[in-house]
Amino acid sequence: MSDTLTITDNRTGKNYEVAITDGTIRAADLRQIKVADDDFGLMSYDPAFKNTASCRSAITLIDGERGILRYRGYPIEQLAEQSSFLEVAYLLLNGELPNQEEHASWVNEITHHTYIHEYMTKAMNGYRYDAHPMAMMVSFLGALSTFYESSKEVRNPKVRHEHIIKIIAKMPTLAAWTYRHSTGRPYIYPDNALSYTGNFLNMLFRMAEPKYEPHPVLERALDVLFILHADHEQNCSANSARAVGSAETDPYCSLAAAAAALYGPLHGGANEAVLRMLNTIGHVDKVPEFIQACKDRKHRLMGFGHRVYKNYDPRARVIKKLAHEVFQVTGRNPLIDIALELEKIALNDPFFVERKLYPNVDFYSGLIYQSMGFPTTMFPVLFAIPRAAGWLAQWQEMLTDKEQRIARPRQIYIGHDERAYVPLDQR
Ligand code: CMC
Repeated sequence: MSDTLTITDNRTGKNYEVAITDGTIRAADLRQIKVADDDFGLMSYDPAFKNTASCRSAITLIDGERGILRYRGYPIEQLAEQSSFLEVAYLLLNGELPNQEEHASWVNEITHHTYIHEYMTKAMNGYRYDAHPMAMMVSFLGALSTFYESSKEVRNPKVRHEHIIKIIAKMPTLAAWTYRHSTGRPYIYPDNALSYTGNFLNMLFRMAEPKYEPHPVLERALDVLFILHADHEQNCSANSARAVGSAETDPYCSLAAAAAALYGPLHGGANEAVLRMLNTIGHVDKVPEFIQACKDRKHRLMGFGHRVYKNYDPRARVIKKLAHEVFQVTGRNPLIDIALELEKIALNDPFFVERKLYPNVDFYSGLIYQSMGFPTTMFPVLFAIPRAAGWLAQWQEMLTDKEQRIARPRQIYIGHDERAYVPLDQR
């Protein structure tokens, strides 16, 4: 048996043999299939890339049928249990876990690039108090490009490394300052003695105390959430980072594009929708009624279902456990009872079972964020901070892949044939 596909073109009766590699045929191999010499050749049509691989990637594996998520081969459960976000960021970007020396140097470099240019505070102050923090993040990522002219040298590995460090280091500072801006509180400068998430909590919540001491459980919980959100292979925002970056746009502007994609409610905004839904339900007694309305297609059960996971979202399992640990510190979020009841009923109801609808990452994450004191508008920003590591890994992999070129899909033109221009006074 050979790894090929034989295609018969019934328009011409001709046969073609196309190679199958990694369960995939190359779309360009279809171009030889023509009805005439001047025919462009056969194309494949795949709106929303539902069945098209756009790259070869060694970063993240999702097996949706078996509920598996791995970064560089390491199961997400093990990383969430034993690793740290900065170590995971290193792993995503470099392919291997760092040894102790590499780890110390990586953490040291990131810790020493957390400050942002003071001019950025002027940009911050230009926004209204109620500006959405995620829209601010999108624009600040682009604005950072104006400070780093050298970042345009995207083919230079040393320059890439320099700006990868800067972006991972500065994301929490930018994010915390959007929050401080919206609350009218003064910006808090980074504290290098604290961990990545400890410093983030410091820049968010420090008031008059001379030294901010993050609660170790909340500091670790945020780190685990960051690990879980660090990458998710070719999703909408990673694809944006790759597509924009393929034009050799600098990493700051490429990531601004990725963050803009994440901002959309179909992508990074679902956890916010879960909270709204739980608030609308209001009480466990109302859960059966709400489930029935989902089955009657009046609305969706937010935080349930996934395009890829058809078994269980492995991140949801970790988050559910984490939620209970956080509630030990913050007090129990009353909405958790509604969430648990929804999950219990849905997981036993044939409507959800038959459609393979299980809780996804967003079902419990919003409850944790809310309990930690974050307003819902900060939820996509909390997603963007760790995902920057994934975006950068995807962006770098794209740039170093010799097969990649500027991203430029084809189209099926369905507009008018040629027609003559009619001057305005004759229309
Ligand atoms: N509640 C009720 N019914 C649902 C739901 C839901 N949450 N999700 C899917 N269905 C039904 C849908 O009506 C359809 O039924 P039928 O075949 O009878 O018409 C079937 O399940 C398949 O749904 P689909 O919309 O074709 O599936 P999809 O793969 O296109 O959509 C999804 C995936 C995540 C957009 C969808 O499940 C959904 O809208 N979920 C709620 C929103 C949500 O939680 N999004 C967060 C995704 S995880 C975040 C991330 O990883 O970035």
